[in-house]
Amino acid sequence: MSETSGQPARRPMIEVQGLYKAFNGNEVLRGVDLVVTEGTTCVLMGVSGSGKTVLMKHLMGLLYPDRGTVRVDGEDISRLDEAGLDRLRRKLGILFQANALFDSFTVFDNVAFPLRERTKLSEAEIREAVNKSLAVVGLTPAAQKFPGELSGGMQKRVGFARATILRPSILLYDDPTAGLDPLTTASVNEVIFTGKQQLGATSLVISPDVASAFKVGDFLALLHEGRIIEYGPPEEFRRSEHPAVKDFLRSWLKRQAQHTKGS
Ligand SMILES: Nc1ncnc2c1ncn2[C@@H]1O[C@H](COP(=O)(O)OP(=O)(O)OP(=O)(O)O)[C@@H](O)[C@H]1O
Ligand SMILES: [Mg+2]
Repeated sequence: MSETSGQPARRPMIEVQGLYKAFNGNEVLRGVDLVVTEGTTCVLMGVSGSGKTVLMKHLMGLLYPDRGTVRVDGEDISRLDEAGLDRLRRKLGILFQANALFDSFTVFDNVAFPLRERTKLSEAEIREAVNKSLAVVGLTPAAQKFPGELSGGMQKRVGFARATILRPSILLYDDPTAGLDPLTTASVNEVIFTGKQQLGATSLVISPDVASAFKVGDFLALLHEGRIIEYGPPEEFRRSEHPAVKDFLRSWLKRQAQHTKGS
């Protein structure tokens, strides 16, 4: 982790130290260290089953460390009570692979939902906030449509608008491009940029897709055998001499080549 000279060190928003987590003797995380500083986007990579989702669940307080600490915006999640956790979760915008939109709600009402549930804003204020948020993701014309009437990429953007309507300072994406076609993947990448640029949010993106990782990440990390074995800006990551990183990149390239041949 190099610091650019002359610039103030950024505040760590996500800080994982020596995190161990096992399930029935299956040691999934074996000393994870990871820091994501304010306003940056870190892409977490790793093969299926390496523990990426398990790691992310610790950040939301859905899982607790066996050992080690997890701090989000300076708060140790193991020390928070229910009220503290609730406060912390309000700072998080979470986007899973499935958008979990409400099918019987319009786009507008989907995005308005967290404001109606969580705030005491007036309808006029809600309308203003939702319209602004829809404009950010280019969905103003779709406000009165239902999710079923939208393309996959548009649904993702609604999911993003809803996840960010409470202006979270941290965005967590768990494999947002899984199973998506290239065009939709590109629009998800756009959405991640939007989160960074328009909200200035700190983002942790889980993505096994190396191409997306290089596009959106300020920092790339590889989770391997329970640890972050490589961490750095894309160019540094690409040049890594770590055998597991080389393997990971090589096997991704191979899969890409097969994919291209097959289609
Ligand atoms: N609640 C749980 N109870 C028991 N085992 C679990 C639990 N959650 C995860 N695991 C195990 O932890 C390991 C890592 O799972 P995880 O879902 O984090 O993988 P992943 O890296 O997210 O994979 P993928 O890329 O396929 O999503 C797996 O072996 C999984 O079976
Ligand atoms: Mg996962």
